[in-house]
Amino acid sequence: MALKRYRLVQRRKMLGFCQERLAEVLQVERSTVVRWELAETDPQPWHRTRIAEALQVSLDELQKMLDDVSVATARGNTMGDSTDHTWAPARTELLAGLRAFLTDYLPSNDFTPQGRPSLPNVRRAVGQVHNLYQRTSYSSAARLLPEVLRDATELARAGSGLHRAAAFKLLAAAYVAASKVACKVGDGETTRLTADRAATSARLAEDQALAAVAAYQAACALLRLPDRLDEAEHVAHASLEHLALERSSPRPDLLSAHGALLLLAAIISARRGDAKEAALHLAQAQRLANGWTVCVIATPTAATWIDRDALAKQTGYLVRSEWRRPGEPDVLPKADAVVVAPATFNTINKWALGISDNLALGILNEALGMRLPILASPYAKYTLTAHPAYARHTELLRTNAVRFIATEESKQPSTAEPISWPGLAEAVERLRR
Ligand SMILES: Cc1cc2nc3c(=O)[nH]c(=O)nc-3n(C[C@H](O)[C@H](O)[C@H](O)COP(=O)(O)O)c2cc1C
Repeated sequence: MALKRYRLVQRRKMLGFCQERLAEVLQVERSTVVRWELAETDPQPWHRTRIAEALQVSLDELQKMLDDVSVATARGNTMGDSTDHTWAPARTELLAGLRAFLTDYLPSNDFTPQGRPSLPNVRRAVGQVHNLYQRTSYSSAARLLPEVLRDATELARAGSGLHRAAAFKLLAAAYVAASKVACKVGDGETTRLTADRAATSARLAEDQALAAVAAYQAACALLRLPDRLDEAEHVAHASLEHLALERSSPRPDLLSAHGALLLLAAIISARRGDAKEAALHLAQAQRLANGWTVCVIATPTAATWIDRDALAKQTGYLVRSEWRRPGEPDVLPKADAVVVAPATFNTINKWALGISDNLALGILNEALGMRLPILASPYAKYTLTAHPAYARHTELLRTNAVRFIATEESKQPSTAEPISWPGLAEAVERLRR
């Protein structure tokens, strides 16, 4: 399989150099330039400064040109993220080195004590593979992967303590890159195998975001394999359930893995022909993108008429109505803001008096005490809101920083209209500004 550094070649030609002339300027043989351009060899560090000067680029830009290795095709095209299946055999060939690494179960003894890979070097190499993948240089990434995986494995094997956890993180990231490349190349088995190893490494590194990315890759692989839709769904849902229990403040990498899994779950539901379920996953992904995680707490009265299972599915969190029993884990994240909707006459009055005789009121009383942003959307008949206690109590809540959504207040008999959920969502968004 012929490889070529097209960007390097293009740059030389753009400056009007033929290979002989460039070789002359660099004081090397023409065959050396040819080997660099065919990605058979990499220029030594002492050549790089001169090449960069000759090609009038920075060392960083030169590195990018050297990293950009593509399959040389008969038409002179580079191989990127094309869905053209005529290149499938060439793509499969790309993974030969990776597959050989994956099926070599004997531990490597190639490292001398001085020659062992270091954490910064492996980190740089893993970053390089991810960069190549981002720039659709799948062949270059595939070429680097066996060595990167070998070094990362060795680092994880030899490491101890914190160093070991960091090494397993890198190993997981390297396997994730391998899985992404294999997925692009269309090799489901290799995608699955590498995703599986990424998951094991992520678990050993105790890194939830990497574990979620690995699960996403595994589910993608299963989707590519015939008759594995059930397994793909199981992997995606198990990971989503796990993420729903995550109680620390959301990290960007965790959010992005969560979003990707939700979109995948939507695709899986759509493949099953279940449009309703697909829409639920998409709505969840949208809420995640908006930056809010929604949990529902119901009063005991509301719990009798709402569909708790459907809401739990929609939000990814259990709908709670009862106090937690001793020893029962707290599965809900800490709230950044609280919305009370529809706020009944009963709840508003009891809340203002500090009564905590159900979980929802207990949470509201605490939220008020902690001065969390609270939005209340009252929903009660005029005959009730006309009661003198109501005005007193809403005023008390207002002076204690509870924001009422004016349009939702039932001041007149005619305003008995349903809650405006889009209006509430907008008001929640304004909390952030
Ligand atoms: C069909 C039905 C509809 C009701 N609608 C309302 C309402 O819109 N607003 C309200 O304040 N109470 C309404 N109630 C009365 C409440 O359910 C009742 O006050 C209850 O104790 C509220 O409990 P909670 O505040 O703990 O949810 C309704 C009751 C029934 C049976």
